[in-house]
Amino acid sequence: MRIQLESADPSHSTATDLLIVSLCEDGTPLAGPAARVDQALGGAVSRARTAGLISGKLGDTYLLPTGGALPQPVVLAVGLGPLAEIDLFRLRRAAQAAGAAALAVKPGTVSVVLPVVVGSPWPAAAGAEATLVATAYGLYRYTAYQGEPSPEVRHLYLLAEGEGGQLTEAVRRAEATATGVALARDLVNTPPADKRPLALAQRIAALGSEFGFEVEVWDRAALEEMGAGGILAVGRASSAPPAAVVMRLGGESGQALGLLGKGITFDSGGLQIKSGEGMRTMKSDMAGAAAVVGAMAGLARLPRRTPVVAVAMCAENMISGDAFRPGDILRMLSGKTVEMANADAEGRLVLADGVEILRRQGVRGVVDLATLTGAQVVALSDIRAAAVSNDQGLMAEVALAADGAGERIWEMPHDDDYRHLLDSRLADIRNVSASGASGGGLITGGLFVGAFAQDLPWVHLDIAGPSFKETEKATGTPGGTGFGTETLIRLVAG
Ligand code: BES
Ligand code: MN
Ligand code: ZN
Repeated sequence: MRIQLESADPSHSTATDLLIVSLCEDGTPLAGPAARVDQALGGAVSRARTAGLISGKLGDTYLLPTGGALPQPVVLAVGLGPLAEIDLFRLRRAAQAAGAAALAVKPGTVSVVLPVVVGSPWPAAAGAEATLVATAYGLYRYTAYQGEPSPEVRHLYLLAEGEGGQLTEAVRRAEATATGVALARDLVNTPPADKRPLALAQRIAALGSEFGFEVEVWDRAALEEMGAGGILAVGRASSAPPAAVVMRLGGESGQALGLLGKGITFDSGGLQIKSGEGMRTMKSDMAGAAAVVGAMAGLARLPRRTPVVAVAMCAENMISGDAFRPGDILRMLSGKTVEMANADAEGRLVLADGVEILRRQGVRGVVDLATLTGAQVVALSDIRAAAVSNDQGLMAEVALAADGAGERIWEMPHDDDYRHLLDSRLADIRNVSASGASGGGLITGGLFVGAFAQDLPWVHLDIAGPSFKETEKATGTPGGTGFGTETLIRLVAG
């Protein structure tokens, strides 16, 4: 989707299929271009509000035909909630709802008026970026497998006044981010048979050529040569062998940051097989890798950034006569041994090798994204991701980026007292805590990966919940959310 800035008066703006304007829940008068839209319509928006047809409640939408009074045939009014409560997060919620509601008229092009929030503490550019990314998010549909898909929105225009330079920069960032997020969602939504590890790796390689980041694919033979015992064990029962994908982007200066994504293209649970219900959404078990790839694509389109090396660990966790067994002891890439106690705790095994790959690339730190535990969903639902980290500096960088992205994370405690839960009598570490349901699976899952990071600054984001939504009320688009993509883009590009 192309995103463009227009400083024109709405009456002389590009004749797109639909124009989005926003308004507050209280009686706050419309301001800026939104007021001019209302004027052009002879006050129809304010009248609809007075009549109670438009509530102004956060995310409520209302369609009005313009009858030729504006270049667009339809105006969509969206509520921002009470003026005093509006923040960038709510601005995104409203824009997302508006994007989703706009699909009702099957638009090919859409314009959105930058909401003017009187007295807001954030710069107009921040509001513009949030509005555009979230509108594009709402407009997203996954249609790759539909016989007669409705047309995609090709063009999104932002109608805004003033601050030309900064708004232009915001629009550019929004376009890169929206593209990356949509890509991550496409990858998650792809059926598992069509993204088996090598196929996914090849798709990432094609994206690298398209967007301009460097890609190396390490296939099973390469992983065997290196001794990457974690990913090899996880992928062994699948007829589609595992692959590690290494992506690189140069930057202005400094040591590269390492990004790492769990890329389990389907998680059956292995010999500790999941229930049918538990397996149903497990095509999304590569959402961490998808976010990393989406971020690389977005970053490749942005000029200002620090260097980055990203790794996607791709494998399919399946069952066969050769499947890895509980009781097996794995020798990992780092040389550490792991007592494999549960075949369904496969994500941490591929991540452990991924951390070691990044260490050898000389990164200054690692941020990993993974759909690692059901315990994350129990603790935080699909609303927030959980973080576990060994470094307060890198953790603060990630928290700041997530905040800017409107992606909510919550740091878990990980006192030393948790670490003994992974002690093994036979190997250096167990992949799950000893049976007896000692709880804390969200923390021990993270700490297992942390044991391989050792002194390397590291942040783990468990995105099991927020990366996939089956009932997405706000956007009407169930499936992959692209969670983490924008956080990573902001982490690297500022
Ligand atoms: N991919 C799952 C975690 C998951 C669950 C993601 C639900 C998204 C939604 C992961 O590989 C897994 O199976 N984890 C186990 C770990 C356990 C065996 C320690 C889990 O959470 O049950
Ligand atoms: Mn699993
Ligand atoms: Zn998994």
